[in-house]
Amino acid sequence: MAEHILEVEDLRGYYRGTFGVVHAVDGVSLTLDRGVILGIAGESGGGKSTLAQLVSGTPPPLLHLEGGRVLVDGIDIYNIDSEELRTEIKCKRMSYVPQSSMESLNPVKRIRDFIFDVVGQRTSKRVLSSERKKEVIEMAANHMKTLGLDRPVLDRYPHELSGGMKQRVVIAISTLWNPKLLIIDEPTSALDVTSQKRMIESLLNLKRARIIESMLYISHDLTSLRQLCGECIIMYAGKIAEIGDMEGTINDPLHPYSRLLTAAIASYDSKGRRKGELKSIAGSPPDLRYPPAGCRFHPRCPYVMDICKTKEPPMFRTGERMGGAFCWLLASQSGE
Ligand SMILES: Nc1ncnc2c1ncn2[C@@H]1O[C@H](COP(=O)(O)OP(=O)(O)OP(=O)(O)O)[C@@H](O)[C@H]1O
Ligand code: SF4
Ligand SMILES: [Mg+2]
Repeated sequence: MAEHILEVEDLRGYYRGTFGVVHAVDGVSLTLDRGVILGIAGESGGGKSTLAQLVSGTPPPLLHLEGGRVLVDGIDIYNIDSEELRTEIKCKRMSYVPQSSMESLNPVKRIRDFIFDVVGQRTSKRVLSSERKKEVIEMAANHMKTLGLDRPVLDRYPHELSGGMKQRVVIAISTLWNPKLLIIDEPTSALDVTSQKRMIESLLNLKRARIIESMLYISHDLTSLRQLCGECIIMYAGKIAEIGDMEGTINDPLHPYSRLLTAAIASYDSKGRRKGELKSIAGSPPDLRYPPAGCRFHPRCPYVMDICKTKEPPMFRTGERMGGAFCWLLASQSGE
């Protein structure tokens, strides 16, 4: 068994089309240990979904893997054939729930029939025997229970379910084979506050019930990130700005972008009151067809120095703290 459930090494993925070349993920490295929930935060357009698509092993047509490696449970997923990727990785080891995935349910099929279709596609047995169907329904009903959904949901059509229920149905289907790693992109963004809370609780239950082991959780929402994640990555313009434990990164961010981001994202206390004053980040993220030289945050950074404009900062660590930040300001403190 590999030491880490996920290892990403110097990953680069660019969109190529008539619009040019978008450097959406550009040199990202990370490791995810077994049992950990790692959150990814950052402004819109920072490359979070692109990173998730690359890690899932099925980038959409315009997105190209330009370099680097993705190891899932020790297996280099861009170096195996598509059949092994489908059967060995996608079912058993890793499942990916994309942004807006609740729209993926078939509107003219009951949930149970949709589940049979999905199982047929994943296991290359297009038509399931009645015996197999019974097994699949038991598995699905069990997962749905863990996610707070009653058995009768199986007989409903998608339009009969709320947004939160549809999202949880998609998660139940995506985790049918108990994948070790769940990658989930913005599952709470289209939900009201009550449904968001239920979603967080459901995701925690999946882990408690050992249906999944680890999670890569992408969200704009700081409150849900804090409730779920032990570790956190802040992404900016296709690169990692900071990696650390969740509370350290939120309470005492090292990178200037993380500081501005945490001040700009609403955080709520247990009574639903907003904590702190919201401050927007001046300027806008760069056009990733023409990323800035040096540190990609330099055109917006209040602390910019000459070196930032020409030389890309490596990761600097400080003290005993886990992870570190890619910022020249930390060069003198880290002793590297
Ligand atoms: N299909 C595409 N074709 C071209 N460029 C794209 C495509 N999808 C995304 N991009 C660009 O890639 C960059 C990263 O986008 P991505 O969707 O990964 O960001 P994100 O952090 O997930 O944003 P959000 O928070 O809005 O979901 C952006 O510059 C975006 O405009
Ligand atoms: S490297 Fe320079 S520009 Fe980039 S965040 Fe640090 S101080 Fe700001
Ligand atoms: Mg996204």
